[in-house]
Amino acid sequence: MIDKSPSSLSRRAVLGGIGTAFVLPRRTLAAADERAVLQARPGSAKLLGADGPETAIWGYGGGAPGPVLRVRQGERVRVLLMNGLAQSTTVHWHGIRIANAMDGVPHLTQRAVEAGQTFDYDFAVPDAGTFWYHPHQRSYEQVARGLFGALIVEERQPPQVDQDLVLVINDWRLGGDGAFSDKTLGSAHDRAHAGRLGNRITVNGATLPVLPTRTNERLRLRLINASSARVLKLVLEGAAATLIATDGQPVGPTPAETYADGLTLGPGNRADVIVDVIGRLGEAITLTDVFAKRQELARLVIAGGAARAALLATPIVLAPNPVAEPAATATTTIDIVMTGGAKNEMDMSFNDTSKPAWFLNGVAGMGAAPLFAAGRGETVAIRLVNDTAWAHSMHVHGHHFRLAARSSGKRIDPFWLDTVLVEKGETVTIAFAADNPGKWMIHCHMLDHQAAGMDTWFSVG
Ligand code: C2O
Ligand code: CU
Repeated sequence: MIDKSPSSLSRRAVLGGIGTAFVLPRRTLAAADERAVLQARPGSAKLLGADGPETAIWGYGGGAPGPVLRVRQGERVRVLLMNGLAQSTTVHWHGIRIANAMDGVPHLTQRAVEAGQTFDYDFAVPDAGTFWYHPHQRSYEQVARGLFGALIVEERQPPQVDQDLVLVINDWRLGGDGAFSDKTLGSAHDRAHAGRLGNRITVNGATLPVLPTRTNERLRLRLINASSARVLKLVLEGAAATLIATDGQPVGPTPAETYADGLTLGPGNRADVIVDVIGRLGEAITLTDVFAKRQELARLVIAGGAARAALLATPIVLAPNPVAEPAATATTTIDIVMTGGAKNEMDMSFNDTSKPAWFLNGVAGMGAAPLFAAGRGETVAIRLVNDTAWAHSMHVHGHHFRLAARSSGKRIDPFWLDTVLVEKGETVTIAFAADNPGKWMIHCHMLDHQAAGMDTWFSVG
């Protein structure tokens, strides 16, 4: 994901005056004996810049993203959700291998929290890493309107970095006046095609934010794709960078050159990247999305004197989290065949929004019975067969999995994931040890697809 060549550094030298001043998301410490309050409510945001119009959004505390919740590995997270919306909601803690009752899935793990009501979330966090939270009720609407935030679980011994930057990336569909496009929410087109793609990408709720950095600084970037449907392919230009975690789980330091054509993050995916800043005063490192068209998302501008005489030399190796490896031979092997959806961009045959558009093994939506039941500790292998004309970002609750095979021949890294982008026509095999008892969802994280039938569940006994 990196272009380290010195020429790109000078080409990328910053001109100044572009972008908005950087505002880090508000930070809340939910320490052992502290309870954070998350109020889901209407609010407003300057998505188009400080001089732009206000956009009416929904957000935790009225802003998007919501506050960064930071805890230490092994501590409890205690959050009081207050529902200030006019509809019911929940909070799902994406990627946390959580106790089932706290997973935030209405009808499956809890009752939806009605307007004006509250819910106490209280859970332990077994893994250090970059996670996030969002509603699991009408998420195609609630997430699209701005309800999401980062949940950071710090290592017991955090690695030495000069800045730990949380970058929550999402897109918005706005009218020319900057107003949130209400009338296209859950549209027949979006449900059966690629989902709700926005026309404005923001990082921490700002268009092209500029962050200050210094020569020889070491940064940890925590990249989160909170988009409702947009796939990101991220490139960092003008820096030496190293991938150290995917979906919250440590990976051996992997030079970002490995992803020279971009690090792919489907909706729901996260990546932790170490950046060692090698430029000179006034130069910039850019975070660019190259998935559809090249679009700069954020800039790190070298301002002020050098942080130290030389770069920190020792690579960061995070201690592994206590995730159980799947056995080489699975006890349970399941096919999940995705069908439905439009055949191509012009196909409007799924024009009735009261009917499902997508099916998993021929069934739309959550059945009364689980798709499969696994014994506790069994290894489950799932073949995710994408027999549709669209990509799907498939998320498993309560567990992290290994990629075992990909029919497309795309590279398979030995990384843990909780969400995997399955390309159209592709079959991806995942494997995990089903060691977390309860009822867990598997669904597409393109949220209009989820709402239009692309969700199911399994049980671990
Ligand atoms: Cu991030 Cu079931 O979702
Ligand atoms: Cu999908």
